Amino acid sequence: MHTFQQTGAILFAIAAVASAQSGSASSSPAPSSSTSGILAQKSPEWLPKFNVSGVSTSYPTGAPDTGETLDKTTLDIKSYPNAWEPASTNHPEIEAVMKAIDWTKVPKATPAKADKDGNVVFGNYDEDKDPYCWWSDTNCVKPKVDYLPEDVYYCPKAGDWGLNYDDGPYNPSDEDAELNKYAEPVLYNFLANNNNQKATLFYIGSNVVTYPAAAKRALNNGHVLCSHTWSHPAMTTQTNKQVVAELYWTLRAIKEATGVTTKCWRPPFGDVDDRVRAIAWQMGMTTMIWNKDSNDWNMPGDGGGDLPWDTVDGYFEGWVEGRKNGSDNTVGTICLEHELNNATVKMTEKWLPTLQQTFDVKSIHDCMGITQPYWEQNWVYPENASGNSTTGNANSTASSSSSAAASSSSSSASSGSSDASGSAEAAGASSGTTASESSSTTSGAASNFSVSSAALGVVMVVATAFMY
Ligand SMILES: *[C@@H]1O[C@H](CO)[C@@H](O)[C@H](O)[C@H]1NC(C)=O
Ligand SMILES: *[C@@H]1O[C@H](CO)[C@@H](O)[C@H](O)[C@H]1NC(C)=O
Ligand SMILES: *[C@@H]1O[C@H](CO)[C@@H](O)[C@H](O)[C@H]1NC(C)=O
Ligand SMILES: *[C@@H]1O[C@H](CO)[C@@H](O)[C@H](O)[C@H]1NC(C)=O
Ligand SMILES: *[C@@H]1O[C@H](CO)[C@@H](O)[C@H](O)[C@H]1NC(C)=O
Ligand SMILES: *[C@@H]1O[C@H](CO)[C@@H](O)[C@H](O)[C@H]1NC(C)=O
Ligand SMILES: *[C@@H]1O[C@H](CO)[C@@H](O)[C@H](O)[C@H]1NC(C)=O
Ligand SMILES: [Zn+2]
Repeated sequence: MHTFQQTGAILFAIAAVASAQSGSASSSPAPSSSTSGILAQKSPEWLPKFNVSGVSTSYPTGAPDTGETLDKTTLDIKSYPNAWEPASTNHPEIEAVMKAIDWTKVPKATPAKADKDGNVVFGNYDEDKDPYCWWSDTNCVKPKVDYLPEDVYYCPKAGDWGLNYDDGPYNPSDEDAELNKYAEPVLYNFLANNNNQKATLFYIGSNVVTYPAAAKRALNNGHVLCSHTWSHPAMTTQTNKQVVAELYWTLRAIKEATGVTTKCWRPPFGDVDDRVRAIAWQMGMTTMIWNKDSNDWNMPGDGGGDLPWDTVDGYFEGWVEGRKNGSDNTVGTICLEHELNNATVKMTEKWLPTLQQTFDVKSIHDCMGITQPYWEQNWVYPENASGNSTTGNANSTASSSSSAAASSSSSSASSGSSDASGSAEAAGASSGTTASESSSTTSGAASNFSVSSAALGVVMVVATAFMY
């Protein structure tokens, strides 16, 4: 069932993304055709302009900021839906986006249903034909329509490790002093202090409006910011307008906090199909999944689960061993990790130094060769900015001999052990458990915002036995 993809295909997809994503946030819309056949994107013109202070306007070349405190001022929250509640659709700004989308280029999949426990129901979806390339059901990453690019889900070059964290920025907790010790800027300082490591960060809009200073810090320290929706629903269960709203309010929050309009997003639980991809693409974003899963969210911790610490250690040990003994030699890694609670932060503190000795650790964007992750043209990340140089010329101790183009073997066959099932993003899986990472993120939000448990209880049940 799983669609194995060849490296050549993703290289084509990268080129297609690069050629289709043109223009700047302030320029006129790009033409609506492109030679690759991929639908050309338009620079989002429906976002307001903001005067943002306290952020770099170009890639930072100085020493990273490792100050231990961050301002707790929120954005202008009256302009947004309530944090952690479903993104409101009844709003003129949403109508403007709806009008800008070419709905003839959005496949007409019926929104998925959720059962009474919030699990996505596959019903009689034809998973053999997989007409909408529904990742949750089949792990499909190559859209069935020819005008959308393949998802980004692994680094093309063996030995590359595209470091990334979901669900941030990790807000301080008002109730739990222990958890507070791990809220941002703790992880960002740890990265800065370890070879000035860069990462790609998938942000929840609700967490950005309540803690914009953390988003500024991340941008200023050279990380790449992407969207992870407003309230973390399973996106295939959302109507078209709800999909727009979940994406819109997050784009707006990231832009108001940092001045950048991001071109990347990751669906919560990996739950995406061609309908959702097409809307995200027309809103200016590429879909990014993963090819390894640490399951870190499921360790005991605030809102986590009961996955033993040793199990997650075992995954990392296996990946390191596989790279060292030469069996992990086809493509690089995009491993799902979280900035979520004390446990996930501790796991990074434990493993990042070893990963840096074993792999070429870099942001997803760096491993993909994407140097302009935002619609604003002034932001250009250096090529090969692996991490230990603020000027971006660092190189790590890992050797990455095989070139992306030379590798044509299956991307997914490599060494994933844990990711077959049970991740937060792919939650539930074999055991059909109902733990959800998303509930844990709520405590990160400032206490003045109410939390809709209905919005958070969504858990995926995915088919078992993927070797992904
Ligand atoms: C931003 O600042 C400029 C100059 O200070 C001002 O002219 C403009 O009106 C401001 N724009 C917004 C949206 O506040
Ligand atoms: C290399 O390491 C991987 C992961 O631990 C393991 O599955 C595989 O058997 C090892 N191969 C060899 C040749 O030692
Ligand atoms: C995380 O913090 C909670 C208290 O909020 C504690 O019960 C738990 O043991 C901590 N987990 C780790 C791995 O530190
Ligand atoms: C980055 O790495 C690639 C492949 O190793 C190389 O072709 C390219 O020249 C490098 N770019 C810079 C700016 O060093
Ligand atoms: C970069 O990282 C490598 C490996 O950790 C280290 O040996 C090297 O000294 C670092 N270089 C700089 C300039 O920090
Ligand atoms: C990495 O750094 C070493 C030492 O500075 C240098 O000899 C080597 O060419 C560099 N490798 C890359 C790929 O830039
Ligand atoms: C919550 O609201 C009260 C009263 O409006 C305010 O004093 C307090 O600072 C707010 N707390 C947060 C975390 O925003
Ligand atoms: Zn998530």
